[in-house]
Amino acid sequence: MSVAASSPPRPRGGGARPQSAGHGCDATEPGWTDGVYLPRMHIPALIQDRRSVRKFTNRPVSREEIEALLAAAVLAPNHRLTQPWRFYVLGPESRYAYGLALGDRKARKLPDPEAARALREAVAAEHRDLPCMIAVAVVQSDNLEVREEDYAAAMMAVENLALAAVALGLGTHIKTGGVMGDAASRAAVGVGDGERVVATVNVGEPADAAPAKTRAPAGAFTIWRP
Ligand SMILES: Cc1cc2nc3c(=O)[nH]c(=O)nc-3n(C[C@H](O)[C@H](O)[C@H](O)COP(=O)(O)O)c2cc1C
Repeated sequence: MSVAASSPPRPRGGGARPQSAGHGCDATEPGWTDGVYLPRMHIPALIQDRRSVRKFTNRPVSREEIEALLAAAVLAPNHRLTQPWRFYVLGPESRYAYGLALGDRKARKLPDPEAARALREAVAAEHRDLPCMIAVAVVQSDNLEVREEDYAAAMMAVENLALAAVALGLGTHIKTGGVMGDAASRAAVGVGDGERVVATVNVGEPADAAPAKTRAPAGAFTIWRP
């Protein structure tokens, strides 16, 4: 199945013609996917540069850019090639409805009805105004082992998407939470029966350069066995 885009997405730095996307990428070379432009990427730099981006500029994310991100997502490893992921690219109406579902949850904690109404509306409007939001769902296998593998594969697809976004000069915010199982959020996504939403990913041009959140070194979590 081809997901060819008619024109290349804007690489990091913008411009009508593909230019260097940074990270040692040569954006003038074709990407690895059939028909979809993606810059060649230096993965360690992309991993280091990825951040959870909470504030975006109002520059729209093009359909071609979204298609390029999803082309990277579906290259994730997946056992038995089940390709368990489903991607719902939400437009402003759907984002607003998803935001209402999330706002409802938050508003329940407020005793003052007016404050609750205002919060609900604010969360909904915040979601409507996002440049791009993708809900990632996984098809639920009846087999528990396959179901676990498929969940893992879907989250690997999410990481591919997040790294590809960095290569295109975009940022992402992966989000989860109980809201994903609510009837209202499922209706907003229009998720299919037998599918579970496992993450939402906000995508856009970062409004500022967020500092890296430091981690303990890998050695702190590593046990070497003989
Ligand atoms: C599976 C997953 C779920 C997440 N869910 C949320 C979320 O619900 N809300 C949120 O603000 N951030 C969420 N995040 C983002 C993390 O908080 C973030 O990755 C962490 O703070 C480290 O920051 P960094 O991504 O900038 O390195 C999630 C990340 C992952 C991988």
